[in-house]
Amino acid sequence: MKFIVLAGGSGTRLWPMSRKNFPKQFLKFSISKHDEHESFFQKTIKRICCYPDADIFIVTNEKHKFYVINQLEELANKLTNKPKIEIVIEPVSKNTAPAIALAIRYAIEKGISQDEIFFVCPSDHLIKPDEKFIEFIKASEECAKKETIVTFGIKPTRPETGYGYIKVKSQPAEFGNFYKVEKFVEKPDFDNAKRYIKEGNYYWNSGMFTFKVNTIIEDFKKYTPQLGELFEKSYDEALKEFQNLSDISIDYAIMEKTEKGMLLPLDIFWSDIGSWESLYDVLDKDPTGNAIVGDCVNIETNGSLIIGNKRFITTLGIQDMVVVETEDALLIAKKGECQKVKDIVKILSEKA
Ligand code: GDD
Ligand code: MG
Repeated sequence: MKFIVLAGGSGTRLWPMSRKNFPKQFLKFSISKHDEHESFFQKTIKRICCYPDADIFIVTNEKHKFYVINQLEELANKLTNKPKIEIVIEPVSKNTAPAIALAIRYAIEKGISQDEIFFVCPSDHLIKPDEKFIEFIKASEECAKKETIVTFGIKPTRPETGYGYIKVKSQPAEFGNFYKVEKFVEKPDFDNAKRYIKEGNYYWNSGMFTFKVNTIIEDFKKYTPQLGELFEKSYDEALKEFQNLSDISIDYAIMEKTEKGMLLPLDIFWSDIGSWESLYDVLDKDPTGNAIVGDCVNIETNGSLIIGNKRFITTLGIQDMVVVETEDALLIAKKGECQKVKDIVKILSEKA
């Protein structure tokens, strides 16, 4: 089995720590006392390497390739089973559908068969435990052999509008625990998200996909001919064509349209760490419920996330707050309001 790791996104939901030029996947955190101080990207590579003989294609862009190279070097001695890793560089960022198509086109150039199974995953999620996760990947591999496109589904806990929602129908006997996908809706509005949760037979899309090369090429050709055509060209020609491609995610390009979707509920820990609140949720807490990173003294402070960098941070009598300090910016927010950091980023980029 081959792996594609998507490491070219430039999300800013963890501003001021993540920036356009330093996205979330490269941020380093120890989630608990026993956890290594590694980035989400490094944790992703380590997790995949629990699959025997993983063969990995990392897709990123010119701007981020040095983070990928440096962080892989840092990992090198920790990876005992020495996976084969190649880096595919997009000339410009065009979102996940072109990134995935380019990685597959590159793999074909390197001699990979059309019957090969690929597992595609983001590089900025937390998933545990690794060993159980690998069992899910192996199960998806079996399902993908039957010309399906497999996603892992997460039981929704709130009407989150930043996720794709998948409605499931039957569980055909020959597919075991897998559900046939009835409908895939990428990032619905709040009212629809609420309705889906009430209806009950919806899952969040975890953003990971398993498929056979010829299964996905068929769908690229059917639903996004521009991407389908990349498979009629040489890799060099595909690279040249890349800048003319439309910006589109795999969710809109294929997942909303395909008739081959199958879903396996993922019932282990999963978080896409899409906000400071979700980072707070996963970090170890002190006895008064504070998640603290760095050098701080806190009195009568509870339920807060406090991340220091250079300066010494002290807090007095605060509750449910988020304080994030970096070299050039300081965020002070009420917990529950942090989705709005994207508005701050927008204002800042208009000013720049
Ligand atoms: N190489 C490359 N190039 N990688 C990219 C690009 C690109 O142009 N754009 C995004 N990525 C990477 C990101 O770094 C991340 O690892 C992954 O692809 C997913 O992109 P996001 O931008 O984080 O997607 P999302 O979180 O908004 O939505 C997706 O994930 C959700 C779950 O976290 C969708 O698949 C949703 O349906 C899903 O619910
Ligand atoms: Mg994401």
